[in-house]
Amino acid sequence: MPRVFSGIQPTGELHLGNLLGAVRNWVEDQHRADSFYCVVDLHALTVPGEPGALGRQTLDLAAALLACGLDPEVCTLFVQSHVPEHTSLGWIMQCTTSFGELRRMTQFKDKSQGQESVSAGLFSYPALQAADILLYDTDQVPVGEDQRQHIELTRDVAERFNARYGDTFVVPAATIPRAGARVMDLQQPERKMSKSTSGDAGIVRLDDDPAVVVKKFKRAVTDSLGEVRLDVDHQPGVTNLLSILAASTGRSPEEVAGAYDQYGPLKADTGEAVVELLRPIQERLGELRSDPGAVAEALRRGADKAGGVAAEVLERAERSIGLLPRR
Ligand code: TYM
Repeated sequence: MPRVFSGIQPTGELHLGNLLGAVRNWVEDQHRADSFYCVVDLHALTVPGEPGALGRQTLDLAAALLACGLDPEVCTLFVQSHVPEHTSLGWIMQCTTSFGELRRMTQFKDKSQGQESVSAGLFSYPALQAADILLYDTDQVPVGEDQRQHIELTRDVAERFNARYGDTFVVPAATIPRAGARVMDLQQPERKMSKSTSGDAGIVRLDDDPAVVVKKFKRAVTDSLGEVRLDVDHQPGVTNLLSILAASTGRSPEEVAGAYDQYGPLKADTGEAVVELLRPIQERLGELRSDPGAVAEALRRGADKAGGVAAEVLERAERSIGLLPRR
């Protein structure tokens, strides 16, 4: 069985981009791969947050992931800070990654732009992400398009380490879905839907009311061309709706595009399809939120299992480097 690893930050609520770009594929992957999914709370420290809020956000995100269909009996769901090997290998990865490589990361450029103060952690973040992945001998990393560059960097760093110290890490590959890999903001369709930058009307949250979802799609920004075509450059809004409808109904974007010639019905059907996609998730979310003890228990078991694998791989890396063994 291939090994799958992926992660998600506990900053803000889960949104449609996370679901279509990543989490839905995690749910599928858990049945065909040995899957590890991590709520990366340490990554969230790279940008300022409200003191004390992170634990609550971590638990809430874990509940949302379970509501989406992750089954803790089938996959390993855990919290990054519960497995300290992540930070240990993170340091080793910082020392294997070059300053120039980190400076080229577009996510760093986006996230640091216009900020008064930028943490060193935000800059070296991709090295910790590489450690997350490499600690599990990962073959495949299911992510949205915006993470492609980070996974490429992880491959480069793994190959460099292996060349320098001998074969140690499995070199992973990104798996990116055909539809839904880049869900755009409904109001500013040239920008991706994002917890940190999207306004309320541009983002569809996992627990938005059905009526709210329908309204957001009705008001989605399109264009004045009056044609339904897949054309990201000239019709980003329409193309986004077509991709969302395709990803939500399991059809291809081309097939969906051929079925419409007016914006109104396209918006209405996309809203309905998303409501149907979210309905069972929202039902389960209500149940899980009323039982935080069960979610915390699943995370504890996940950390025990993840920690066992991570400790072995970290020790292997330390031996390759030639650090003095403790015993
Ligand atoms: P994060 O928390 O920003 O996003 C989690 C996952 O959701 C995907 N995603 C999207 N997909 C489609 N359209 C969108 N608008 C959209 N927004 C987000 C992301 O591609 C991602 O797959 N650095 C990572 C977290 C991370 C990680 C890892 C991922 C840390 N360590 C190891 C994989 C492996 C991040 O900030 O994702």
